[in-house]
Amino acid sequence: MSDWAWPDVIAHRCGGALAPENTLAGLGIAARLGCRAVEFDVMLSGDGMPVLIHDETLDRTAARPSQVARLAAAELLATDVGRCFHPAFAGETIPSLDAALQSCKRLGLAANVEIKPASGFEVETGRVVGDFLRKLAPSRCPPVLFSSFSADALAAAAAEAPDIPRGFLADRIGADALLTASQLGCVALNLGGRSLEAEHVAEARNAGLKVLVYTVNSRLDANRLAAWGVAGVFSDRPDLLLVGPLT
Ligand code: G3P
Ligand code: MG
Repeated sequence: MSDWAWPDVIAHRCGGALAPENTLAGLGIAARLGCRAVEFDVMLSGDGMPVLIHDETLDRTAARPSQVARLAAAELLATDVGRCFHPAFAGETIPSLDAALQSCKRLGLAANVEIKPASGFEVETGRVVGDFLRKLAPSRCPPVLFSSFSADALAAAAAEAPDIPRGFLADRIGADALLTASQLGCVALNLGGRSLEAEHVAEARNAGLKVLVYTVNSRLDANRLAAWGVAGVFSDRPDLLLVGPLT
């Protein structure tokens, strides 16, 4: 159904630090920089539409205290998340998952859809996102990788769309993360980079998993991780990482 392409640089939250996070503007900037893959966060609106947003409230991205899970999709899709980032992006609104995937398809970007459920909505969010992808016509669907910190969300997405590859997200590797990734039939383990060591990467690869690492913003770090066998890095500065091949 969807064949993730494993590019080695993945723009974090669409355009990284170069655009308001989780926006169509970010996707456009990622593509212009030469990215072939992006990551974005997907949560449900109060009436069940998957939309791109990281936080459970609009405080940080729109300077409003509202809870995402209590707002209708129509209100979220009209919410300006550009102005808080920079006035030049005023009018940039929260996109639906549908709009983001269409944009990725048009721009030639693979999409790591991070299922980011509001607390208490883990299974429902995974189910809705999985169902959405299962029904999406191939002509509208870019290569997709699902991921989530929530095993329940990832399992629910997998039940709906078993053919879409999955990565389990964990701050750090441990027996629990490896076991969960294996139980969920994951192809990847997506790990935080802060305390990551070469042996952790080897451990995951020996378990048959690809390793993706967040959030990596320097070529020095990206090159070190590539040498350890990391398949790809999520970056807020894809512009710095894409100036030449990682070595
Ligand atoms: O998917 C990698 C990364 O996005 C996980 O952290 O908090 O930025 O969603 P966060
Ligand atoms: Mg994310």
